[in-house]
Amino acid sequence: MTGKNLTVLISGNGSNLQALIDACGTDALPNAKIVHVISNRKAAYGLERASKASIPTSYHNLIPYKKKHPSDLDLARSEYDADLANMIINHAPRTDLIVCAGWMHIVTPNFLNPIAEAGIRIINLHPALPGEFAGANAIGRAWEAGQKEELKRTGVMIHEVIAEVDAGDAIVTREVEIRVGETEEQLAERMHTVEHKLIVEGTRKTLEALMKQ
Ligand code: GRF
Repeated sequence: MTGKNLTVLISGNGSNLQALIDACGTDALPNAKIVHVISNRKAAYGLERASKASIPTSYHNLIPYKKKHPSDLDLARSEYDADLANMIINHAPRTDLIVCAGWMHIVTPNFLNPIAEAGIRIINLHPALPGEFAGANAIGRAWEAGQKEELKRTGVMIHEVIAEVDAGDAIVTREVEIRVGETEEQLAERMHTVEHKLIVEGTRKTLEALMKQ
């Protein structure tokens, strides 16, 4: 069975990236190698995690694009996304799968179309169950609903990336109980523990499907 190469997109701490780094080459994620980590934030600690693991990193920030097109955010985003796609497509060795692991940007068709044309798959981690809490602060919003006793559980999913935010087909999902009286930080900590397992599981499932193709 030939190995598969991953590019991981991050924006911050990179604890999910770390879970992938630790799993690569073990039974949890055999035949997988992270060949490139891209962050949209220069100070993202995940960049240090990647460097420590001798993984090439790149920094790609939206601000220069906003400065170039101050009155047209859509155009800035489109150019940013097209360049992001090229950074991945032109990187050697070739990427088979992109994993968005806490990547805080919405991706547009200007990114997704060239990536699909290059035959590269893309999956995302979202800290909520399918159809719930799309977008930012999903954990905070679930915690609030839980404290009002409107919700007994939230969850985590790994899903295919499509143009609609946090809405592609789920690959793996896991429920996480919300405890009345717990702090948002306590819920977030339990969510992160589940994320770290699920991102490895979702990546493995996707790679297994790719290897069968
Ligand atoms: C995770 O909670 C992810 O679900 C959210 O951003 C966080 C990223 O954490 N969207 P890390 O950078 O992997 O530590």
